[in-house]
Amino acid sequence: MNGFNAIAIDGPSGAGKSSMAKRLAGAFSFLYVDTGAIYRTLGLACCRAGIDRRDVSAVMALLETLDISIRYNEQGVQCMILNGEDVSREIRLPEISLCASDVSALPEVRRFLLEMQRKFARENNVVMDGRDIGTVVLPDAELKIFLTASPEARAARRLAELREKGSNVDYEEVLRDISYRDEQDINRAAAPLRKAADAVELDSSELSEEETFALLCEIVITRLALSPEESV
Ligand code: DC
Repeated sequence: MNGFNAIAIDGPSGAGKSSMAKRLAGAFSFLYVDTGAIYRTLGLACCRAGIDRRDVSAVMALLETLDISIRYNEQGVQCMILNGEDVSREIRLPEISLCASDVSALPEVRRFLLEMQRKFARENNVVMDGRDIGTVVLPDAELKIFLTASPEARAARRLAELREKGSNVDYEEVLRDISYRDEQDINRAAAPLRKAADAVELDSSELSEEETFALLCEIVITRLALSPEESV
């Protein structure tokens, strides 16, 4: 409507949203916006300040003093800046995932962070991933995708990633963490994780990353009448 196209990708933790969103953005020359990174940055700030992440007054008081912004580096990679410091690596720590999930359950926090996310879609073609992009952040997105996979498939993939990074966590622990976050993201009152009525649902449990990407490209090409800028 504003001359730009928005692709919203929602789904549970570990469904592969960010890697698919990143690849789609690359293939169609869109800007990739990872909204989970914003909640992670606030989660990290709460952890550092030692405040209770479920105490809405304390979190909001802190949030109002913070300078959280997104920058894109020369390689086009999204970096999270907290009070001038690049925290892009630190926000990926597993303990920060839980902090992010806690703060993201607070409606006041979500409201506060809404405009920051919408602004990107007003000024760019975006692929934006999160939990409520198609339902709340960009309800008018030209294309909405709900990417899912079973908890077991997501835990197996996450375990492989963590093992590759040298971590020795076990499968049960990863599955527990994923189930806890699912439970919290689905059952929270504010913008719970759910599929938008007009979203295309894709279950990747039985698909490889390449198969999932090929299917998503096909959906983008047909639904938005776009051609990829690189061979996919
Ligand atoms: O996608 P992620 O794992 O980086 O997200 C971190 C947390 O933030 C996750 O528990 C859910 C929450 N989140 C959200 O509530 N809404 C979004 N649009 C993105 C993430």
